[in-house]
Amino acid sequence: MILFLIGFMGSGKSTVGSRVARRLGYGFLDMDREIEQQEGMSIGEIFAQRGEAAFRDMERRMLESLHSDGDLIIATGGGTPCFGDNLELMKSKGTVVYFKASPETLAVRLRRNQHRRPKLAGLGPEELLRYIGDTLAEREKYYSQAAITIDCNGVGDEYIASHLEHYIVDYFAQQNNPITN
Ligand code: S3P
Repeated sequence: MILFLIGFMGSGKSTVGSRVARRLGYGFLDMDREIEQQEGMSIGEIFAQRGEAAFRDMERRMLESLHSDGDLIIATGGGTPCFGDNLELMKSKGTVVYFKASPETLAVRLRRNQHRRPKLAGLGPEELLRYIGDTLAEREKYYSQAAITIDCNGVGDEYIASHLEHYIVDYFAQQNNPITN
């Protein structure tokens, strides 16, 4: 079983995903980190030296090559479900979970490590909020197609982690219940 975590940068996909995977004994894969390892470069360097289109190809190839015998949680990049038919591919391979947060929540969370993200580097506080608002509005049509949505506003990572854990347990209990199917 593969679980894809989608959502904007800073929504907590990697932190929460790795924590829940550890607790449930699932495997965990962070697509950005995996791409960095494969390429031997940071995401910032990939964007600067190869360009965004090349990065999106790398994401696509990684999604295509994914298969799992056991249970696996995958933290995707914020843009992953919004390019090509990546979202359809994810839906065909597993269950998609959206970490939903408002631009204000995301701006607070992102300010701390904004410099590590090529799309955000150098933006002032107001520009950051505007960029998040505009981009989120464009991406919401993809994100909202997830099978499960978790509201991440006003709560900490631990709260989100325990919610995700419960959702997983309930969701798959229902899927396996012949009476509700
Ligand atoms: C991106 C999000 C980043 C990373 C890249 C582009 C985006 O992932 O893939 O910087 O377009 O939203 P995180 O959501 O893990 O920061």
